[in-house]
Amino acid sequence: MKCFPVIIDCDPGVDDAAALLLAKQMPELDIRAVTTVAGNVGVDQTTVNALRIRAASGAAYPIFAGADKPLFRERIDASAFHGEDGLGGVAYPVPKEEIPAEKAWDAIYRIAKECNGELVLIAIGPLTNIGIALAKYKELPQLVKKAVIMGGAAVGGNVTPCAEFNIYADPHAADMLFCSGIPVYMCGLDVTMKAFVTPEELDEIGALGSSQAKLFREVFQMGQKKYLEWGMKGVALHDPLALYYAVDDSIFETHHVGIRVETKGALTLGKTVTDLYSDKQMEHNAYIVMDVNREVFLQKVMELMKKYD
Ligand code: RIB
Ligand code: CA
Repeated sequence: MKCFPVIIDCDPGVDDAAALLLAKQMPELDIRAVTTVAGNVGVDQTTVNALRIRAASGAAYPIFAGADKPLFRERIDASAFHGEDGLGGVAYPVPKEEIPAEKAWDAIYRIAKECNGELVLIAIGPLTNIGIALAKYKELPQLVKKAVIMGGAAVGGNVTPCAEFNIYADPHAADMLFCSGIPVYMCGLDVTMKAFVTPEELDEIGALGSSQAKLFREVFQMGQKKYLEWGMKGVALHDPLALYYAVDDSIFETHHVGIRVETKGALTLGKTVTDLYSDKQMEHNAYIVMDVNREVFLQKVMELMKKYD
């Protein structure tokens, strides 16, 4: 597959960190920028973590900081899972580099213009930066080829029974994206919960020996304990799955559907209302990824991490 321009919008976050480590080793990705948003932890910390992972991976993409809170609702975080530092408590030095003053949403628009309609947005955190970019630049939808997101679910949720964290954290921004006309490929919990990595597989990755492979294993140790306590076989690779999907969708099952986001319901706030079956009520404005060949996906993760020496 030829190389294509992407922006990775993220809230590092342990699985964001893993996705960024993988992204560095994917020749198909021309990473024009990494943009950060408040999500798992506050935006200052997600930005520090993006700097840490950039340094750890040896990458050189520019980093732009974005929104410190959602568009309308109060900010929530996921530090209970990701740790107060957002990286599972791993001790990693904070690089001294400054980041540009340009805000994430302005960088998204500027780079989208530079890419003449070829830009792919890979969004693996709350969608606030994209919501602001859509509100500020009405021609943005014509400049973005597609958006691949980690978020939502046709069934269930991980923050409430109805809502997944990235969508629940900013449901208004998410609905703006689904209504924007940009083709959205939603990698929700339906598929990401199937992409678990077992403790043994994580140890295998760590045993590859590079500092990056060890970091990949380390960041998941805190979260893995919780998944095992919940009776799962291993921690879900939510963000790495969405990143990989953007490059190779051949190991996945994708459906063309209608998706809108509940922005008002007391119990249903943040639900990605997905018309998979009714086929009569909603315009098919998006795509939902419902299945993955887990074994092949894990092999690809291993192959990519082997590239670090
Ligand atoms: O629900 C999982 C998502 O929320 C992942 O992107 C994780 O990093 C958190 O942001
Ligand atoms: Ca994330």
